[in-house]
Amino acid sequence: MVIGQPIDRRDGRLKVTGRARYAAEFSPPGMVHAALVQSTVAAGSVAGFELGTAQGMPGVLAVITTDNAPRLPGAAGGATPKAGGGPQTITAPLLQSAELFYNGQHIGVVVADTLDRALAAAEAVQPRYQPGEALTDMASALHDAYPPRHFRDGARPPDSSRGDPDGAFAASPVKLSLTYTTPIEHHNPMEPHATVAAWQGDRLTVWTATQGIDGTQAALAALFAIPPANVTVLSPFVGGGFGCKGSTWPPATLTAMAARVVGRPVRLVLTRRQMYTSNGYRPRTVQSLRLGADADGTLRSLRHNGISQTSPPGLGEFTEPVALGSEMLYACNNVAVTHRLVAVNASLPTYMRAPGEASGNFALESAMDEMAAALTMDPIALRLRNYADRDGHDDKPFASKLLRQCYAAGAEAAGWSRRTLAPRAMRDGRYLIGMGMATATYPTNRQPAGAWARMMPDGTAIAASATHDIGTGTYTVMAQVAAEELGLPPERVRFVLGDSRLPKAPVSGGSQTVASVAPAVQAAARALRDKLFALAREERRGRFRGLDPAEMRLANGVISGGGARVHVAELLAQGNQRWIEAHADAAPGPEKQHYSMHSFGAQFAEVRVDEDLGELRLVRMVGAFDGGRILNAKTARSQLIGGIVYGIGMAMLEETLVDRETGRIANSSVAEYLMPVNADVPEIDVITIGGDDGISNPLGAKGIGELPMVGVAAAIANAVWHATGVRVRDLPIRIENILAT
Ligand code: MOS
Repeated sequence: MVIGQPIDRRDGRLKVTGRARYAAEFSPPGMVHAALVQSTVAAGSVAGFELGTAQGMPGVLAVITTDNAPRLPGAAGGATPKAGGGPQTITAPLLQSAELFYNGQHIGVVVADTLDRALAAAEAVQPRYQPGEALTDMASALHDAYPPRHFRDGARPPDSSRGDPDGAFAASPVKLSLTYTTPIEHHNPMEPHATVAAWQGDRLTVWTATQGIDGTQAALAALFAIPPANVTVLSPFVGGGFGCKGSTWPPATLTAMAARVVGRPVRLVLTRRQMYTSNGYRPRTVQSLRLGADADGTLRSLRHNGISQTSPPGLGEFTEPVALGSEMLYACNNVAVTHRLVAVNASLPTYMRAPGEASGNFALESAMDEMAAALTMDPIALRLRNYADRDGHDDKPFASKLLRQCYAAGAEAAGWSRRTLAPRAMRDGRYLIGMGMATATYPTNRQPAGAWARMMPDGTAIAASATHDIGTGTYTVMAQVAAEELGLPPERVRFVLGDSRLPKAPVSGGSQTVASVAPAVQAAARALRDKLFALAREERRGRFRGLDPAEMRLANGVISGGGARVHVAELLAQGNQRWIEAHADAAPGPEKQHYSMHSFGAQFAEVRVDEDLGELRLVRMVGAFDGGRILNAKTARSQLIGGIVYGIGMAMLEETLVDRETGRIANSSVAEYLMPVNADVPEIDVITIGGDDGISNPLGAKGIGELPMVGVAAAIANAVWHATGVRVRDLPIRIENILAT
C-alpha cells in the first residue's frame, strides 16, 4: 500500500533550498513594478488627485487612478456571490468608481521601472477626498442587524427552526442565556499576495498566489471580457492561504490592468500591511446562545443567533455561517438558528480556516461547558448524553461518525480521568491547573475535478490536475494515489499542478482538495492502466492475446499475465508513442442526498494560570480526529498540528484592532498582530481514528484542513474556567479577562 504511508513532502527539498518558485519570483522579460495607492478615509468619495509630482518622478510609467483607469467591461454589478455566501470575484473596488467604502481601499496603482520607484511615486500621489459619514464599529449598530441576501449562495435561508425551541426552553429545568464574541482576525500566510501579469495581444498570463486557479481564470476572463481560454493562470507554489487566496481579489485584477496600460509585464506584491486591507479577514461576531436542559443533561432546546460584520453592500456581502454546526452536532428536537449582518466601513470579509465553524463552535462548545458546570456534570458525559446518531437538521444518517471513539481516545491521551469536576481544584505549586475539552466538526465537501495520468517509457509516471498545494501536501498525496493504481513506488510518480491548462479542479478551500481531486487522479490512473492492458493485448508478438484484463498486472513499468511479461517501453516503441496518457473526470454522486457528511474530533487543552498575575500558559493539547481515511500519515499529522496551532492563535492571541475614528487598522504587522510562535506552542498530541467509510468519496478521505482548528478556542477557554473559575466569553483570552473578576 502506497496510500497512507508517511512519505516526505515531495516539495520539501525545493522549499528549503529556495528552488520552489512562488508567484513573485517570476520575471518575464521587460517586467516592471506596481505599487498600490490606498484611501486614508473610510467613507465618502475621491474628489480628485494631484498627480504631477508622481508622474514626473524618474522611471514612472503610469499613474492609474479612479479618475483615469480603463473601464473593465465585467466589473459592473458588485461582487458575485458563490457557494458559502462569499464572493469569488471581487469586483469592487477596481478603480471603477470614486466611491469610498473603507480606509485602505485601493484608489490607484502606480507603475515604474523598479519597485523602489513605484513605491516612492505611489507615496507622492495626493488624493483629495470628499469624506462621508463612516460607521467603523459593529458594536454600536447591532440593533440594525439585517438578514443576509446571499446566504449559502441562496441554497438555504439564513434561519432554520425545528420543533418548538421557545416552548421547550420555557419548560426546561436548567436554562442558560449566554453571549460570546469573536474578533476580526487576519489570515497572515507566510507568502503575501503577489501577481505577475503579462499580455500578448488579448491573451493574458498571470503568475499568482491563489487557492483557486479556475476561479481566477474565470474572473479575469469575465472582467476583461476575453474568453477563459485566453487566460493562463500559473501557481505552482502557494505559501499558505487559509482562505485569503480563495477569491480573486482586486490586486490581481489591478496588476493585469496595469500591464495592459503600460504594455509590459507587471509585478505587484502586497506588503504585509496591505495584506490587512486587500484580501478579506474573519469578521467579528456576536453570538447569543440559549440552552435548556433537563437535570440529567438532556438538551431540550438550543438557540444560536449569530451576528457577523460585513462590508457596505457596494463591496459585496459575506456572512460568517456561525450557527450551522449547532443544527447538527447534538441530538435535540427543538433547535433554532439565525444569521444576521451588520455592515461597517471595512473591506469585505472572507473565508478563514474553518469559516463558520471556528467562530460558531467557540460559542457552542463554551456554552456546552457552561451547561456541564451548571449541572455539575462531566463535560464529556454531557456530550455523550446528547450524542447525535443522526443529523437532526437534515434528518439523514451520517456517512460516518466516530466521534465517540474520538472522545475516548482523546480523554485517554489527555489524562482526563485526573480532572476534578470542580474548578480551581487542581494546582501545581503557585499555578492553577485546568483541563478543558470541546467537540470539533467540519463538513466533508467535494466538487467535480479532472486529471490526467501519463506513463513514460522509463516506467515512471506523471499525473496532473489544475489543483493547488497550499502547504497541505497535494504534490505528495496525489503522487501516492497515482502510484498506488499504477503499481509504482511513489518516487517514480511526479504530480503536476498549479496550471490552468491542466484539467479543471475546484478551489482549494473547504477542506475539499483531497476529496475532490484524489478520485479524479485515481480514475485517470485506472484508465491509464486499462489502456496499457489493452495495448498489451494487441501487441505485435501476441503474448497477451485474448487474456482477460482481470488477470493482468501492472507493476514497476511491467505488464504481466498468463505467464508473459512486457515492459511499457516496448509497448510504446511498438506504437511509436512517446507516452501513453488517459484523462478522467470525477464528480460527487447522490451520496449527499442520502447522507450527512462531516469529519469530527475531540480537542483537549491543559492550561496553567498564574493566580496572581493572570498569566496563561498552555501545558498540552490533544486532538483526536475522525477525518476518514488518511492518505499520508505524515502530511496529515502536520495538517492536524498546524490546525491546532491556528486555533491556539484564535484562543489566546489574534485580534485585528480598528481605530474607531478613522476606520484604520491599527496593528497591521506581524509585530503587532500576535500569532503563535514556537514559545507559545506546547506539546501537541494528535490521534487519527477511522478509515474509508465507503460513502463519502472513492478515497474515503473526509478532509482535515479545517477540522483541527475547530474546538481549540473552546477547549482552551473551558480549561481556563476549570483552572480559575473565570468564564471568558470574548476572544482572544487575555490576562485582563482572567483577572477581571
Ligand atoms: Mo478555506 S478558509 O475554505 O481556504
